[in-house]
Amino acid sequence: MATLFTGIKQLLTFAGDKAPRQGAAMREVGLVKNAAVLVDSGIIVAAGSRAAVSRHRLAKKAGKIEVSGVCLPGFVDSHTHAVFAEPRLKDFSMRTAGASYQEIKAAGGGITSSVGAVRRQPQRAMAEQLAARAAGFLECGTTTAEVKSGYGLNMESELKILRAVREAQKLTPLEMLPTLLAAHSVPPEFNGEAQKYLDYVTAGILPKVAAGKLAVFADIFCEKGYFTPEQTTAYLKEAKRLGLTPKVHSEQLSNCGGTRAAIAAGVISADHADHVYAEDIAAMREAGTIAALLPASNFYLGLTKYPPARELIAAGVPVALATDFNPGTCPCWNMQFVLSAACTHCGMTPEEAICAATVNGAWALGIGGRVGSVIPGMQADLAFFATEDYRELCYYFGANQCVMTVKKGKIVYENHPVSHRRRPC
Ligand code: NIG
Ligand code: FE
Repeated sequence: MATLFTGIKQLLTFAGDKAPRQGAAMREVGLVKNAAVLVDSGIIVAAGSRAAVSRHRLAKKAGKIEVSGVCLPGFVDSHTHAVFAEPRLKDFSMRTAGASYQEIKAAGGGITSSVGAVRRQPQRAMAEQLAARAAGFLECGTTTAEVKSGYGLNMESELKILRAVREAQKLTPLEMLPTLLAAHSVPPEFNGEAQKYLDYVTAGILPKVAAGKLAVFADIFCEKGYFTPEQTTAYLKEAKRLGLTPKVHSEQLSNCGGTRAAIAAGVISADHADHVYAEDIAAMREAGTIAALLPASNFYLGLTKYPPARELIAAGVPVALATDFNPGTCPCWNMQFVLSAACTHCGMTPEEAICAATVNGAWALGIGGRVGSVIPGMQADLAFFATEDYRELCYYFGANQCVMTVKKGKIVYENHPVSHRRRPC
């Protein structure tokens, strides 16, 4: 049976080109007041004014859900490291005492300090932990998330992580797209020999992951002390040859050329972009590469420098926003906080920020033709918020304003305050 979500005060449809949004188009939210969305078999069949949608032939017999508030496409979080066994509380204490990310790494913390517990964790426990975290994403209005490996750093554990993502997919309605991030850091047993480790990944893990279709994307951390731009290009080209879509962590802590190196291998998105120079921005614009900005990680690291969203948008680079949820630089899964950080610290408008967290997030995962906007034919992934105006999503921060999440037409989370009570007719 069809379902009619009606009584929506403000609906943001993001109707527009079936392409990543850039420049002024990032501010075109497709606002409809007093709106409704009609869903059938998990697909949106009509979205727009309440009056127009209720005239649709399927609307008469549909189950009606009165919702009120604001409705958006479910958030698409295009960058997470949601598989990790333990929080890094020792790193956190060091940070509160003033240590930088690099200093924490030098003292034995950082990425490789997450590896031991991940290697010890059984796959089933990992999948259950991920499914429990997925519930947190759904509660905050995220309906799709990319999930990276990268804390296993050997064949057995990287494969285990990706298989755990696959297993967790059966335990949660959150849609998860897996990424192989074996090139996250050099594991201790390689004694800092980055090329030797990359050769090991390229010869063994990469082909195995590609053959088993265990990941959609391959990612690499291009940064001083991790992997070089030359290694980035070669590794991502090989990943692409094997059928994985390349992504990159680049210019996060310094400008070391990772963005352009990754563009040479055809990345779909270049993520972080904190230290991009004009020539990197020009290269992204030229290649159509999406800049996935992760300002919640800058916030958590206590940085004063944030990614230059205004320059990127002015240059016509499509900008996406994601959490970067991970134990080292961003223990936050709430995309609503990312909206606030993007507006407050990167100078993005609420319209641009919400576009970046929905439609452009979807394009950063190559699925913008299926999710990320509320138009007929798209998957019915919706998030409802107990606010009068969509700008309140960026204005209030530190709270979860999401009251209902819908995935493929089904309610997967619901927490209605009395004033937004659901009224089935
Ligand atoms: O995106 N920079 C690389 N990866 C993560 C951090 C991972 C960690 O510290 O555990 C990031 O910030
Ligand atoms: Fe990351």
